[in-house]
Amino acid sequence: MSKICPSILAADFAVLGAEVQDVLNGGADWIHYDVMDGSFVPNISVGVPVLKSISKAVPAYYDVHLMIDAPHRYVEAFAKAGADMITFHVEAEEDIAGTIRAIHELGVSAGIVVKPKTPAEAVFPYLQDVDMVLVMTVEPGFGGQKYMADMCPKIRAIREEAKRIGRPDFCIEVDGGIAADTVASASAAGANVFVAGSSIFGKEDRKEAIEGIRAAADAAFTD
Ligand code: DX5
Ligand code: ZN
Repeated sequence: MSKICPSILAADFAVLGAEVQDVLNGGADWIHYDVMDGSFVPNISVGVPVLKSISKAVPAYYDVHLMIDAPHRYVEAFAKAGADMITFHVEAEEDIAGTIRAIHELGVSAGIVVKPKTPAEAVFPYLQDVDMVLVMTVEPGFGGQKYMADMCPKIRAIREEAKRIGRPDFCIEVDGGIAADTVASASAAGANVFVAGSSIFGKEDRKEAIEGIRAAADAAFTD
């Protein structure tokens, strides 16, 4: 079954606790927490202190997406602030294996992320070690962009490789432009964790939005 992960980037930060509680009440599985440093991506979002406050105020599974240079410098701080999963970009880190190990040693799940132009093969050497791969379906940096359906062959290639190495239930997350009318192709290609910002927080009824995305994803999943 699909996991639906609202991205807080599209939430109202003035009332973040209430926003996170609202999507949890609506059936959200994880909370996606986007961290941007103004260097790896041309935007700045939130960091360690906000995660610390929100994870304490509103218990949930926090899926922390680091869009920052040299992420190994900050994994301990985010783990201590309440991250349950930390994902980092392969394009941003020289010591990928060491960073995965460091995250696991902190008792946190680890995932690696690829930007649209980075091929599937970039994650293959690490598939046995990570808990998840995140395939970006927009260029990272901003919410509300158009879903790139041409990422589907990459998702499919990673799903096939995960099966080949004996991990059929592997988590493949997609992020960017996911909505009830775009999620089907990613799900059919093998994604099973769906980040959605504007298509959930931008709607009045978050429960209805989450259920719509989940129904479309579950209907399309083939594996
Ligand atoms: C983009 C972020 C996404 C973003 C998704 O760089 O990683 O998580 O919030 O927003 P939507 O769903 O609006 O494309
Ligand atoms: Zn994200």
